[in-house]
Amino acid sequence: MDFKEKVAEIFTSLEPDLSMDDALQLIEIPPNAEMGDYAVPCFKFAKKYRKSPAALANEFVEKIGNRDEFEKIESAGPYVNFFVNKSQFAEKVLRKAFEEKENFGKTNVGEGKTVIVEFSSPNIAKPFHIGHIRSTLIGNALYKIYTYLGYNTIAINHLGDYGTQFGMLISAYKKWGTPEVVEAIERDPINELMKLYVRYNKEIETHPEYQEEARYWFNQLEKGNEEAQRLWAWFREVSLKEFNRVYDMFGIKFDSYAGESFYSDKMPAIIDELEDKGLLKESEGAKIVELSDYGLTDALIQKSDGSTLYVTRDVAAAKYRKDTYNFYKNIYVVGAQQKLHFDQWRKIIDLMGYDWAYDCVHVMFGTVSLEDGALSTRKGRVVYLEDVLNKAIEKTREIIEERNPNLENKEEVAKQVGIGAVIFQELFNNRIKDYVFSWDKTLSFEGETGPYVQYTYARTCSLLRKADLEIDDDVDYTLLTDNESFNVIKKLDGFKAAVLNAHDKYEPFMVTRYLVGLAQEFNRFYHGCPIITEDERIKKARLLLTLTVNRVLKKGLELLGMEAPEKM
Ligand code: ARG
Repeated sequence: MDFKEKVAEIFTSLEPDLSMDDALQLIEIPPNAEMGDYAVPCFKFAKKYRKSPAALANEFVEKIGNRDEFEKIESAGPYVNFFVNKSQFAEKVLRKAFEEKENFGKTNVGEGKTVIVEFSSPNIAKPFHIGHIRSTLIGNALYKIYTYLGYNTIAINHLGDYGTQFGMLISAYKKWGTPEVVEAIERDPINELMKLYVRYNKEIETHPEYQEEARYWFNQLEKGNEEAQRLWAWFREVSLKEFNRVYDMFGIKFDSYAGESFYSDKMPAIIDELEDKGLLKESEGAKIVELSDYGLTDALIQKSDGSTLYVTRDVAAAKYRKDTYNFYKNIYVVGAQQKLHFDQWRKIIDLMGYDWAYDCVHVMFGTVSLEDGALSTRKGRVVYLEDVLNKAIEKTREIIEERNPNLENKEEVAKQVGIGAVIFQELFNNRIKDYVFSWDKTLSFEGETGPYVQYTYARTCSLLRKADLEIDDDVDYTLLTDNESFNVIKKLDGFKAAVLNAHDKYEPFMVTRYLVGLAQEFNRFYHGCPIITEDERIKKARLLLTLTVNRVLKKGLELLGMEAPEKM
């Protein structure tokens, strides 16, 4: 039983109507240490006893008396404040952490449940730009957090590899695809395909019939025309090669790349099902689902020429995923701009009679922009994600040259820290917040940054190396009752809650903030309490604390998708 549960138990024994869950809910963590480690507000009981909360707090303190687990229990206004017995607390937390190793902080909430995390999902033949950083990194962190909590987790990249724009590309290629163009595409696929696409759109202005040709070729693609299929497969392959370079840099892996095209042969069945369930209406030759009763705009399901749409493919994808994986949750990490799309889509699934519609979650986020102005694909000012990562590595390399030129593995560390810094900054805020990507904020070693946390981790590694001692949990815990040590231990105790909260709210930043807090407390401890000292007993105790911080930092960074270099 932990200390919070102990407090809850004391209150349930005093108040038999109070359930353990209610009591746990009631307990607050006071904002500062003078008010204890746990506090129980007494407002709730005032009505029943017709006494003031403050009077009740006094009575409770009287009744509780002395308890071994707490060094002090006192009332302060309407609150009963509990001060844990510090050495008992230290022993409890550190022994558990020592035993559980990399499972400290884990729970089994996910056991036996399958969760799909769909993330990144760029469009092929289009740049993989800084805007994609959000879905890619938030999604990967959620994937890792869910996996850590015992879920069977499936990472899906729902590639945008279908739609009328591919009709344009095919048609453009057929017109202008000289051997030189082929070679250029092999060399620099996205840029060259973009050029074709832009040129085609431009020439439509003078050759309106190109519109029709593009439609024709998309139709051919849908019908399985061999040439159209071959070209499309080639565009997809060269695009994926580029995307994979970035995924490799981040260390991201997907279990499935079933994107929009994967569902093309599942369209007729979905249209039939919608038809059978009486959900389709004709509208100027097209088929729609009316959604005005639900405060949404109607959804276009099939155009008059028979081609299907983004939302149609998403309906098919959700059904396929339910049938294939029988998910407990189906998570979509996609920007807030697509909220309407996902609201319509969920309503359609609901109207089809599938109650799992509400197990599908749209985890949305705000925008990212660059310091020198907003990013805009249309104006052609696109910043490639790969370039951002390379720049981060280069800048980190310069910092290393300046601060620690003799470091071994400089190149490797520059990658781990540079890329880590970008990941950390991305995952630092509430995801719905828009943010501006700032180089200074990202790469600083002093602020609340990735390099700062990684540096603290490297510091723990260096201490453990220097001590060169077999560490165990057989230490004198009364030596860890000073404020600095106690604050670190309290932080360590909060790891599990941070991970669980991040999971409940789909907010990786709760882990990010936690890690910064732990690193700060550890550094205070490091500066206040010499670790490698003459006194063997103190040294052993402080090293156990250091080892625990070392493990939690490493695990936390891993959950965010970051590396933890041992020297930097
Ligand atoms: N490819 C889309 C885009 O870049 C994102 C796909 C989101 N996922 C989905 N199932 N609709 O905007």
